[in-house]
Amino acid sequence: KKELRLAIAGLGTVGAGVVSLLQENADLLAARAGRAIRIVAVSARDRKRDRGVKLEGFTWYDDPVSLATAPGIDVVLELIGGAEGAARALVEASLTQGRDVVTANKALIAIHGAHLSRLAATHGAALLFEASVAGGIPAIKLVREGLAADQMEEIGGILNGTCNYILTKMGDSGEDFSEVLASAQKLGYAEADPSTDVDGWDAAHKLAILAGLAFGQPVSFSSIRVEGIRHVASYDHQFAREMGYRIKLLGMARRLDKSGAIEAWMRPCMVPRHAPIANVNGVFNAVRTQGRFSGPMLIEGRGAGAGPTASAVMADVMDLARGTALPVWGTAPQPERACAPISALSG
Ligand code: HSE
Repeated sequence: KKELRLAIAGLGTVGAGVVSLLQENADLLAARAGRAIRIVAVSARDRKRDRGVKLEGFTWYDDPVSLATAPGIDVVLELIGGAEGAARALVEASLTQGRDVVTANKALIAIHGAHLSRLAATHGAALLFEASVAGGIPAIKLVREGLAADQMEEIGGILNGTCNYILTKMGDSGEDFSEVLASAQKLGYAEADPSTDVDGWDAAHKLAILAGLAFGQPVSFSSIRVEGIRHVASYDHQFAREMGYRIKLLGMARRLDKSGAIEAWMRPCMVPRHAPIANVNGVFNAVRTQGRFSGPMLIEGRGAGAGPTASAVMADVMDLARGTALPVWGTAPQPERACAPISALSG
């Protein structure tokens, strides 16, 4: 089979991670996919920055959006981030060209997923976004493939590594929020703007994506109730500990009744210390599902960072290389719907 030619837009933590994974695993991937997979083009703001990976042999493009139409490219990897700007323009232009797109961009999919999936379907392009949710955990494949035959009753979990790292460290050491945030930023987990993480938006983007796939229709992001961890103080952790609890930022989406209405929220919660989810610590994420037939499930893994996210990006590329990529909504694109207001009994 012909080789699969990739273009990477964005060479930050994730982009450099993808280059490094492909350099190390090229033979393994070729053997598994039955064809070679090669990066042919890249676009990033700074050509000269040392990213710790070799970038020779790729064609450089100054304007990332030009990757949508540049010749000799089969798949565009959008690793720029952000719901608007160059990331959105590149994904729209690529799909409109019928060019397959793999993205790690949770804000883009959470906010514009319905529109983009329509574009993909109209132009016969694939739109894949495994890396947009929970880093290295194959959460989207779990919902769309592993649980394809079940009815989902609930889906959610711990969906932000930075918040989980901060809450874990505050709980263990008694340190202040701002001290711990600074160390998370140094480790490269946090988003460029820390409020995206600590105010719950990043986790809520992931919840919106999971809820949409689990319940078969995109969820309107603005209808999710979101509360972050900024106001959780060290004495809250101390009281929680004394009572046998830990504090976690949890997100949950659940089906309320047969009408199909769902509710979704993201907020700091007290969880009993011995519960499995209370022991998902540090940068780890956890995805929890409750299916009518499959019952409860909890998968834990690294939710952020170069390696885990690159692994998820390349799992999508493998689907394209093997010809097994699924359309976003199975058959036809679905309209967006709003979540129901949070009931008094929830959570
Ligand atoms: N800032 C995110 C996190 C990265 O901390 O989980 C992955 O979305």
